[in-house]
Amino acid sequence: MTRYLSILAAITVAATSLSAAPVPPTIEVASQGCVTADCHANIKRHNVVHGPVNVDACDACHTLTDAKTHTYRPTRDASETCTFCHVVETEGAAVVHEPLTTRQCTGCHDPHGGFDRNFLKAESMNGLCASCHQDVTGDKQTVHGPVAAGACGMCHQPHTSQYPKLLVEQGRTLCIGCHSEMQQQIEQVGFVHQPVQEDCTACHNAHASDHPMMLKQAPGQLCTTACHEDVKKAVTQATHQHSAVTQDNGCVNCHTPHGGDLAKLMKDKPIQLCLRCHNQPINTDSGEIVQAVSELADPELNKHGPVKEGSCGGCHNVHGSDIANLLILEYPGTFYQSFDLKKYSLCFECHDKQLVLTPSAQGLTGFRNGDQNLHYLHVNKDKRGRSCRACHSVHASAHPVHLRESVPYGQWELPIKYSPTPTGGGCAPGCHLPKDYDRERPVDYNPKPSEGTSP
Ligand code: HEC
Ligand code: HEC
Ligand code: HEC
Ligand code: HEC
Ligand code: HEC
Ligand code: HEC
Ligand code: HEC
Ligand code: HEC
Ligand code: HEC
Ligand code: HEC
Ligand code: HEC
Ligand code: HEC
Repeated sequence: MTRYLSILAAITVAATSLSAAPVPPTIEVASQGCVTADCHANIKRHNVVHGPVNVDACDACHTLTDAKTHTYRPTRDASETCTFCHVVETEGAAVVHEPLTTRQCTGCHDPHGGFDRNFLKAESMNGLCASCHQDVTGDKQTVHGPVAAGACGMCHQPHTSQYPKLLVEQGRTLCIGCHSEMQQQIEQVGFVHQPVQEDCTACHNAHASDHPMMLKQAPGQLCTTACHEDVKKAVTQATHQHSAVTQDNGCVNCHTPHGGDLAKLMKDKPIQLCLRCHNQPINTDSGEIVQAVSELADPELNKHGPVKEGSCGGCHNVHGSDIANLLILEYPGTFYQSFDLKKYSLCFECHDKQLVLTPSAQGLTGFRNGDQNLHYLHVNKDKRGRSCRACHSVHASAHPVHLRESVPYGQWELPIKYSPTPTGGGCAPGCHLPKDYDRERPVDYNPKPSEGTSP
C-alpha cells in the first residue's frame, strides 16, 4: 500500500506533464487529457475507475512513441504492467494460477476500471473463468448448485492457493463448508465410510456429471470401479446374480454411501431390508419363482441361529454366487441325494459333520434311537439319501428344531407330522408308516429298521 501511494504521487506528476504535451498535428488532444466526450470516453466509463486512470496518469502504462501517428507502446515490459505497483504474493503459495505466473493480469482484469473494485473483465465469475476454461458443466445432466449459479469463487481462489486446483479448502472441508448437515450426519453415526472421512470427490464430481447427485459413475459401477474389486467379482462373474445389486441404485439399495448406525453400512437391518422385496413371491425373468420368505419376520416362529442374529450373510452371498439361491456353500436343492459330505458344506460350516458320518452316536444328536444315529441312517446313503430339507426348514419354523410341517415333493406337499416326546419323538410322514424314536428306551424296529418305502 505504501508502495502504491508513493507511486501515485509520481503518476500525478507524470499525468500533468502528459496533458501538457504538445498536440499531435493530426490528432486533436483535448486540453483536459486523453479522455473527453469524443476521445476514449469508454476508458473511464466504469463504476469504479482504476486509481492511475482516474488521475489521467495514462503514461503509467502507455508511452507515446510517435505523436504523428498517435502511437503508444506499453510503458513497461508486459510482465510488469501491473506488478510494478501491485504486489501479488505468489511466493510460498503451493499453487499459482498460470496466468499469474505469466503475468497475464489483464486476462481477468480490465486495466482501466470495472463494475466493482476488482475490475473484472466479465460480469460474472463463471463468465470470467469461461474466457479461458472450457465450460466445466458441458451438457452434463446434473449440475452442482453453486456451479450452476456461476459461483466458481466459492470453491476456487483466482490467484494462488495452499491447495491443489486453487481450492479454497481441502478435501471434505471444502464440501462441508456448505453441506453442514453432512457434518452432523457424519459425527452422529456409528460407522462412517472411510472415503467420506477423506475426500468427497472420490465419488462426487464437484461440478457436474451425467449421474444423479453428480456421482462420478452410475451408482451400480461407482463402488466397484476403484474399490471393492472382490464384490465386483461376485456381482459380475457369478452364475447367479441378484438384481437388487445389479439394477437401479445398485449398491445403495442396501448400503448407505456415507455412514450409518449399522455395521457394514447397511441401510437397515438385513431382515427388514430384504423383506422390502422378499415379503412376496418374485417372478424372475427366467420364469422361476423366488418364494416369499416372510417367515423370517414372523414373531410366532422360531428363528434359525444366524437368522436370530439378524444375519443372512452366514448362508447367502447376496452380492452374487455360483451356487443356486445365492448360497455361500453347497446345499442340496432336492429331496433325495446320494450321500456326499460336500453337498452339505453349508450346514457343516457351522454344525458338527459327525452328525452324518458316525452310525452310532451317543450324545451326538437328539435324532437317535438309543445309540443309533438316525441322521446317519437317513442322510448317509449311496442312493436316495434324504437331504436335510426333507425334514428341516432353514429360516424359521414353528418347531424349535426347525422340523418342517411339510415338504414339497414334486407336486405334493408331503406332510411330516412330527411330534416330540421328552426322550425322542415320532413322525407320520408321507414317506413311511408312523415311526417313533427314543433315546433312552430304543424302539425295536422289527423287522430290521427301515426308512420305509418312498411314496
Ligand atoms: C494501469 C495501466 C494502464 C493505465 C493507467 C492506462 N491504461 Fe490504457 N491500457 C492498458 C493496457 C494493459 C491495455 C491493453 C488492453 C488489454 O490488454 O485489455 C490498454 C489499452 C488501452 C487502449 C486500447 C484498448 C481499449 O481499451 O480501448 C486505450 C485507447 C487506452 N488504453 C487508453 C488509455 C487512456 C486514455 C488512459 C489514461 C486515461 C489509460 N489507457 C490508462 C493499461 C493502462
Ligand atoms: C502506476 C501504479 C499502478 C499500476 C501500474 C497499476 N495499478 Fe492498480 N491500482 C493503483 C492504485 C493507486 C490503486 C488504487 C488503490 C486504492 O484506492 O486503495 C489501484 C487499484 C487497483 C485495483 C482495485 C483493488 C484495490 O486493491 O483497491 C485493482 C483490481 C487493480 N488496481 C488492478 C490493477 C491491474 C490489473 C493492473 C495492471 C493492468 C494495475 N492495477 C496496475 C496503482 C496501479
Ligand atoms: C484468473 C483471473 C485473474 C488473474 C489472472 C488475476 N486476477 Fe487479480 N483478481 C481476480 C479476481 C476474481 C479477484 C477478486 C478476488 C475476490 O473477490 O476475492 C481479483 C482481485 C485482485 C485485486 C484486488 C483484491 C486483492 O487481492 O488485493 C488485485 C489488486 C488484483 N487482483 C491484482 C492482480 C494482478 C496484479 C494480477 C496479475 C499478476 C492478477 N490480479 C491476476 C482474478 C484474477
Ligand atoms: C463446489 C466447489 C466448486 C465449485 C463451485 C467450482 N469448482 Fe472447479 N473444482 C472443484 C474441485 C473440488 C476441483 C478438483 C476436482 C478434482 O480434482 O477432481 C475443481 C477443479 C477445477 C478445475 C481444474 C480441472 C482440472 O482437471 O484440472 C477447473 C478449471 C475448475 N475447477 C474451474 C471451475 C469453474 C470455471 C467453476 C465455475 C463455473 C468452478 N470450477 C466451480 C470445486 C469447485
Ligand atoms: C486468462 C486465462 C485464464 C482465466 C481467465 C482463468 N484461468 Fe484458470 N487456468 C489458466 C491456465 C492457462 C491454467 C493452466 C493450464 C490448465 O490447467 O488448464 C489454469 C489452471 C486452472 C486450474 C488448475 C490449477 C491446478 O492446480 O492445476 C484451476 C482450478 C483454474 N484454472 C480455475 C480457474 C477459475 C476458477 C477461473 C475463474 C475465476 C479461471 N481459472 C480463470 C488460465 C485461466
Ligand atoms: C458454496 C456452497 C457449496 C459447496 C462448497 C458445496 N456444495 Fe454441494 N450443493 C450446494 C447447493 C446450494 C446445492 C443444491 C441444494 C439443493 O438443490 O437442494 C448442492 C447440492 C449438492 C449435491 C446434490 C444434492 C441433492 O439433493 O441433489 C451433492 C451430491 C453435493 N452438493 C455434493 C457436494 C460436494 C461433494 C462438495 C465438495 C466438492 C460440495 N457439494 C460443495 C452448495 C455447495
Ligand atoms: C463412497 C462414495 C461417496 C463419498 C465418498 C461421498 N458420497 Fe455423497 N453420495 C454418494 C452416493 C452414492 C449418493 C447417492 C445416495 C442415494 O442415491 O441414496 C450420495 C449422495 C449425496 C448427497 C445427496 C443426498 C444426501 O444424502 O443428502 C449429498 C449432499 C452428498 N452425497 C454429499 C457428500 C459430501 C459432502 C461428501 C463428503 C463429506 C460425500 N457426499 C462423500 C456417494 C459418496
Ligand atoms: C430391491 C429388491 C430386493 C432386495 C432389497 C433384496 N432382493 Fe433378493 N432378490 C430380488 C429379486 C428381484 C430376486 C429374483 C432374482 C433376480 O432377479 O435377481 C431376488 C432373489 C434373491 C434370492 C434367490 C436367488 C435365486 O437364485 O433363486 C435370494 C436368496 C435373495 N434374493 C436374498 C436376498 C437377501 C438376503 C436380501 C437382503 C440382504 C435381498 N435378497 C434383498 C430383489 C431384492
Ligand atoms: C441386496 C442388498 C445388498 C446390495 C444391493 C449390496 N450389498 Fe453389500 N452387503 C449386503 C449384506 C447383507 C452384507 C453383509 C454380509 C455379511 O453379513 O456378511 C453386505 C456386505 C458388504 C460389504 C462388506 C463385506 C465384508 O465382508 O465385510 C461390502 C464391502 C459390500 N457389501 C459392498 C457392496 C457393493 C460394492 C455393492 C454394490 C455392487 C453391494 N455391496 C450391494 C447386502 C447388499
Ligand atoms: C442357515 C442358512 C440361511 C440363512 C442364515 C438364511 N438363509 Fe435364506 N436360504 C437358505 C437356503 C438353504 C435357501 C434355499 C431354499 C431352500 O433350500 O429351502 C434359502 C433361500 C432364500 C431365499 C429364496 C427363497 C426361494 O425359495 O427361492 C430368500 C429370498 C432368502 N433365502 C432370504 C434370506 C434372508 C433375507 C435371510 C436373512 C434374514 C436369509 N435368507 C438367511 C439358507 C439360509
Ligand atoms: C452360519 C452358521 C450356521 C449355518 C450355516 C447353519 N446353521 Fe443351523 N444353527 C446355527 C446356530 C448358531 C444354531 C443355534 C444353536 C443353538 O441355539 O444352540 C443353529 C441351529 C440349528 C438347528 C436347531 C438346533 C437346536 O438345537 O435348536 C437345526 C435343526 C439346524 N441349525 C439345521 C441347520 C441346517 C439343516 C443347516 C444347513 C442348511 C444349517 N443349520 C446351517 C448356525 C448355523
Ligand atoms: C429324516 C429327517 C431328518 C433329516 C433328513 C435331517 N434331520 Fe436333522 N433332525 C431331525 C430331527 C427329528 C431332529 C430332532 C431330534 C430331537 O431333538 O429329538 C433333528 C435335529 C437336528 C439338529 C439339532 C441337533 C441334534 O442333532 O439334535 C441339527 C443341527 C440337525 N438336525 C441338522 C441336520 C442336518 C445338517 C441335516 C442334513 C445333513 C439333517 N439334520 C437332516 C430330523 C432330520
